[in-house]
Amino acid sequence: MALALASVATHASPTLLDFTAEERAQLASHGPWPPVTQGDPANARQQQAAARAFGRQLFFDRRLSADERASCASCHVPAMAFQDGQAVPRLRDGQPASVRNTPSLIDAAQRRWLGWGGEHDSLWAASLAPLLAPAEMGHSLASLAARVRGTPALAQAYQRALGPLPADDAALAVGLAKALAAYQAGLVSPRTAFDDFRDALLRGDRAAAAHYPLPAQRGLRLFMGEGRCSVCHAGPAFTNGEFADIGRPFFVPGGVDPGRHAGLQRLLASPHNRLGAYNDAGAAADPRAVATRHLVREHRHFGEFRVPGLRGLRATAPYMHDGSVPSLAAVVQHYSDLNEDRLHADGERILRPLKLSPQQQDDLLAFLHSLSN
Ligand code: HEC
Ligand code: HEC
Repeated sequence: MALALASVATHASPTLLDFTAEERAQLASHGPWPPVTQGDPANARQQQAAARAFGRQLFFDRRLSADERASCASCHVPAMAFQDGQAVPRLRDGQPASVRNTPSLIDAAQRRWLGWGGEHDSLWAASLAPLLAPAEMGHSLASLAARVRGTPALAQAYQRALGPLPADDAALAVGLAKALAAYQAGLVSPRTAFDDFRDALLRGDRAAAAHYPLPAQRGLRLFMGEGRCSVCHAGPAFTNGEFADIGRPFFVPGGVDPGRHAGLQRLLASPHNRLGAYNDAGAAADPRAVATRHLVREHRHFGEFRVPGLRGLRATAPYMHDGSVPSLAAVVQHYSDLNEDRLHADGERILRPLKLSPQQQDDLLAFLHSLSN
């Protein structure tokens, strides 16, 4: 009896590390969350309710694949955080449909560049690409447009949501992609224990802040400080939106995945980038087109991949562009053991092996977990 009372009395007194002013400023930069939703000047449909509803319907519609066997949701499975839990997607005959890991689509509207190599500069262009990829939906512009025109239910839904069917096949396909983007733009990750902690600390509510577990607090300090993780994993979504090399192998069956180097080539050659004719605002009036205009392809881009955001990772194993890392613990191990010989000689020297103690590894992991529910 006395024991039970004592255990109530000493019940976990919450603790708060002494975060310095500099640490608090850095912490502030990882929020607020959720972000203010902004439209996309290049996609006039992005915030239209009718386009969003049509896009949702399209996302699950197998008729958008040439053989009617795959929909977007076959790989971006809603119940699995809009990815597929596999290293690389395998559809139909079990053959890999890509050499890359299927990314989650949650928070995709926040991303400046899309695809692991930044092949696209808008959510709608990244939604058009799978429709036309032979191993994914497998259409041509002509067969896709013919499918819509020849399927009365689809054609009517298109007209109700987007207006008259364009006579031009490419314009019709772009309409589908813009509706698909409108749907995906509504996929935003929820607030987490980390967000509650950040907000409490910044408003000076120490009691509320102290509910954030101590290991996560220590992991956060390591993430922003010694670990230098936030140099790349910056801002509210924990990505600077750019590309880097962290020493993961980039060999794929039959060759290499050049990452950003090939991604830039594809982006700059694409008629569907922000500089092209399908930008609803026109490139001159789209502030986001400036970044595309100033892109220059350099040798250092070889083997660089997009810095992924870190929210919701608990649901999206395996990790990295090729799905080669099975767990978050193994990601932390990668940064702890880092093989410097694998990093580009001309890349920025941000990373070095952290040689973390087992406790530090657990702390970093506790912090990463606190970014998911
Ligand atoms: C065969 C599996 C598969 C199918 C089907 C598929 N995707 Fe994907 N998706 C992927 C993979 C793999 C990537 C990464 C591609 C890359 O980096 O080159 C990706 C990337 C994306 C991206 C970029 C996300 C980001 O964060 O960069 C978007 C958006 C997207 N897909 C939307 C769609 C839509 C919309 C459809 C249906 C029209 C679709 N996908 C169908 C596997 C698939
Ligand atoms: C130089 C920039 C940079 C730094 C510093 C950095 N990362 Fe990364 N991180 C990346 C890139 C780029 C990838 C994707 C690499 C790939 O796919 O091959 C990545 C991938 C990850 C992933 C996998 C996410 C996913 O969805 O697959 C996690 C988790 C992660 N980093 C956590 C960390 C932690 C923790 C630290 C600090 C110890 C850190 N990163 C430091 C650039 C960086």
